[in-house]
Amino acid sequence: MMEVHAHLNVTVPDDIDNPFLQGLFRPVGVEYTADTDDMVVIGTIPDDLHGMYVRNSHNQMHAPMGVYHPFDGDGMLHAIRFEGGHATYRNRLIRTVGYLAEAGAGGQSLWPGMLEPHKANLRGWGAMKTMKDNAGVDVVAHAGKLVASMSQCGEPYHLDIDTLATKGVHDWGKAIEPFGLCSHFKVDTATGELMFFNFGETYPYMHYGVIGADGALKHFVPIELPGPRWPHDMGITQRYTILHDLPYHFDPELLNKGIRKLTYFKDQPARFGVVPRHGDNNSIKWFTAKPCFILHLANCYEQGDWVHMDGCIQKRPGKPEVGQQGADAFERIRHHLDKHNTHTHMYRWSFNMVTGETRETVLDDEVTEFPMVANDIVGRPYRYSFNTLFKPGNWHMSGVKKFDLQTGGDQRYEYGDNRFGSEPCIALRPGATEEDDGYLLTFLTDMNENKSEVLILDARDVNAGPVARIILPARITNGTHACWVEGDRMQGERVA
Ligand SMILES: [Fe+2]
Repeated sequence: MMEVHAHLNVTVPDDIDNPFLQGLFRPVGVEYTADTDDMVVIGTIPDDLHGMYVRNSHNQMHAPMGVYHPFDGDGMLHAIRFEGGHATYRNRLIRTVGYLAEAGAGGQSLWPGMLEPHKANLRGWGAMKTMKDNAGVDVVAHAGKLVASMSQCGEPYHLDIDTLATKGVHDWGKAIEPFGLCSHFKVDTATGELMFFNFGETYPYMHYGVIGADGALKHFVPIELPGPRWPHDMGITQRYTILHDLPYHFDPELLNKGIRKLTYFKDQPARFGVVPRHGDNNSIKWFTAKPCFILHLANCYEQGDWVHMDGCIQKRPGKPEVGQQGADAFERIRHHLDKHNTHTHMYRWSFNMVTGETRETVLDDEVTEFPMVANDIVGRPYRYSFNTLFKPGNWHMSGVKKFDLQTGGDQRYEYGDNRFGSEPCIALRPGATEEDDGYLLTFLTDMNENKSEVLILDARDVNAGPVARIILPARITNGTHACWVEGDRMQGERVA
């Protein structure tokens, strides 16, 4: 079966002069439901692949008000659900309040993007309260629902896990206003709890919270920071949550004048707050480290008195600066997103909970980002991280690298010229006893053919290339963050 669910009113002009709305980034205007009886499958879909891989993306619906940044676009989910060697694909736009307002205004943008908050005429969402909540960054399954987020704190959007239909702002969304939900939040599948933070431009500048396995808010406390910050991710272990206070944020003196300029304060240490899972501002323990910026963590875990936090460090987050003379806006965005410019690589921070000591270790020097581990490994000692490779000069995901942190070995698979992937996820086999006993999944777009596909690799043997490829009904928009939902977590947390 292959059916068109809806035709969308995309009003971005075909000839728009913006590289982030063309080619790989060109928005999708059709919603499909299609199963593998009517899609081309190259290879064999494994019988023991059971669950759903779902990825968010920025699918800008209307001509932007000004400079469009690729994180501004309306959220669209792409999902492929597997069972018994069969799969069904769906893509659905997330119908946010902002999207509905713009659609109701005849299909025009009503809010500026993240680079031009001063152009806002309407109160918006996010830490700046100036842009549309696009719900286009991350997507996570929790308590039988999909939850989508925005890059700089927005409302938690609830999507139906079976149909991907937008159900509106999550039940707990009102309780965490006005800062909302952060870009990235973590689920501990052993307890079914979801841990999150948020941040904003007013005191106390951060909050921390826990959603129970039943999907209800059970803990929400203020966390005091020295001023407004711009964190993107957080970590969890079995007992702790790790929050970030990093020296890459709006210049506070300019912010007092209403000017938002992201600045790297190279002499200001990074600070990491290790808080007991149900702790608060009194029980948080702060550690200092060398100045840096971090977008995404791989995993965190406890070992005796130590808490280890692994992730991708940016040693040069402000280089080249946005605002560099002589470069146009799109070139500046491209330079800024180029992981080779920021030299982003795997790194470990270790915090001693008794002595307060911080140790830092380079795990690997190659440029990688978007590190992932299997869901059931999150917060626990682990062996493998699956990271994304990038070719220099752009923001295109060119392959996947598997780190073996026990032996120091690695495996990789590169997608080929003009073939670009998404954040890969690990789908463990039911009953798996090893953390790579399963499959690695990604959506991939081939710009040679203007087509997209789902790639299934054996997570134990990434070098071998795909065991199966599923050709989708149409090319999909570039996107990054994704999650795997195990078949036995589709209708709720295992412990609920
Ligand atoms: Fe992210």
